[in-house]
Amino acid sequence: METIGILTSGGDAPGMNAAIRAITRTALNSGMRVKGVRSGYDGLINGDIYELNVSSVADIIHRGGTILGSARSMEFKTKEGQDKAAQILHDFGIEGLIVLGGDGSFMGANALHLRGIKTIGIPCTIDNDMGYTDYTIGFHTAVETVIEAISKLRDTSSSHGRANILEVMGRKCGDIALYAGLTGGAESILVPEVEYNLDEVCENILKNKRRGKMHHIILSAEGIGKPYEMGKYINEKTGVETKVTILGHIQRGGSPSFTDRLYACEMGNMAVELLKSGQSSLAIGINKGELKTTPIEEAVKMKRVFNTHLLEIARELSN
Ligand code: ADP
Ligand code: F6P
Repeated sequence: METIGILTSGGDAPGMNAAIRAITRTALNSGMRVKGVRSGYDGLINGDIYELNVSSVADIIHRGGTILGSARSMEFKTKEGQDKAAQILHDFGIEGLIVLGGDGSFMGANALHLRGIKTIGIPCTIDNDMGYTDYTIGFHTAVETVIEAISKLRDTSSSHGRANILEVMGRKCGDIALYAGLTGGAESILVPEVEYNLDEVCENILKNKRRGKMHHIILSAEGIGKPYEMGKYINEKTGVETKVTILGHIQRGGSPSFTDRLYACEMGNMAVELLKSGQSSLAIGINKGELKTTPIEEAVKMKRVFNTHLLEIARELSN
């Protein structure tokens, strides 16, 4: 293989840049040429592609976001869009494409594989919502951001004797809420994977108040929704003033953590090696600490298993 391409797609994730650097440097050291595709599948369809050299990826290992830009492309979801994208790759002489993104982006990579392009997927999303891998690049950094937010909220929550709802990202996955809630010491954690009872949350708030606790942080995953209605209900039911914070896209930015950089370096390097050995339509993942590959078609069908044990621990420790 002489020329490979790199594309970042879907929501950006801290660590994408470190992976772009790892891929580029590994490929250049193997004598390959590397092309960067701007703005995800939209940029691919429009031929927005440029040459990456050793300096193009200097000074990016520590930066959040993606130097290539990302997008959600409606046109690429169509057969015509995918045909066009494959033709563009042929025209640019790109034989292998490494796609950084989540399940949707990987399905796109498989569509290109079926059109004769060799593709490898690297899991990058803050949501940690991919069933085939224990970990997705960006998750750790996002959780660190949420933990910091919890600490800041707790300060003001205690001063005013309030309850504070903090809504965090994750689409239908509650992992950000779970891991940040456990390690940030939230009093309540609500996730879409496990049924919850708002009256129990209210009882907990009152129980904590009775033993002198001045704050109550409720970490709610975005899959739960309606945080303002929830706040109103808690306020009315407990008499405790309840404020709502939606953390939003702050969770997507920031310098990647050590973990996100490490997996970016390892997976980026592995992706090039896989292309060199002629493999295609494979998703790189991590299982019990070991890097592994899964055919993309299988990977995107695998349902994520929620760690209910950790939620139980969180409940036990917060009371
Ligand atoms: P993520 O990759 O994080 O899951 P999206 O679901 O938004 O994010 O997908 C990113 C992009 O991947 C979409 O905008 C679309 O261009 C492409 N994509 C999503 N689903 C498919 C699909 N079933 N087939 C082909 N391409 C897809
Ligand atoms: O998939 C990452 C994510 O940040 C989700 O947690 C969130 O629901 C979504 O993307 C937000 O997407 P956008 O940046 O398009 O608003």
